[in-house]
Amino acid sequence: MKKTITTLLAITFAMISLAQRNKVTYDFPPEMTGKIREDFIKRWETGKTLYGINCAKCHNTKKKRKTIIPDFKPEQLTGYALRVKNAQHEASMPDNQVSPEELGLIVTFLVYKKKCQ
Ligand code: HEC
Repeated sequence: MKKTITTLLAITFAMISLAQRNKVTYDFPPEMTGKIREDFIKRWETGKTLYGINCAKCHNTKKKRKTIIPDFKPEQLTGYALRVKNAQHEASMPDNQVSPEELGLIVTFLVYKKKCQ
């Protein structure tokens, strides 16, 4: 009986850690608290979804079956300038597909996501 429970627990933990392999989390500064933090979490989650729809297909990579979202530097996340920086963006990020507000949310997601390294 004890052995069965131990085995079941081991399997559960293995499954949880597998499920979390691809989980992206945020990393807000500790001084960001209360209502502001709650708002940022909502914006961040929306930005994450929008990134998945509009950017992931070109920018995500796989490493040992784990999805890697690149760690862009703050100076690379230039909002509007991103749209026209390269030809691929001009074609794939028109305003009517990614609105300025949505691009802002995507940038919030990328700035505050936990860094890979
Ligand atoms: C059709 C493919 C494609 C899509 C879609 C795309 N990008 Fe890019 N992006 C590129 C390429 C190609 C580059 C230049 C090479 C590189 O840095 O990977 C680039 C570069 C960048 C850079 C670096 C710019 C710099 O200054 O070096 C950022 C930041 C970026 N993309 C963000 C985004 C965001 C945010 C989205 C979604 C709204 C997005 N990209 C959608 C292809 C794409």
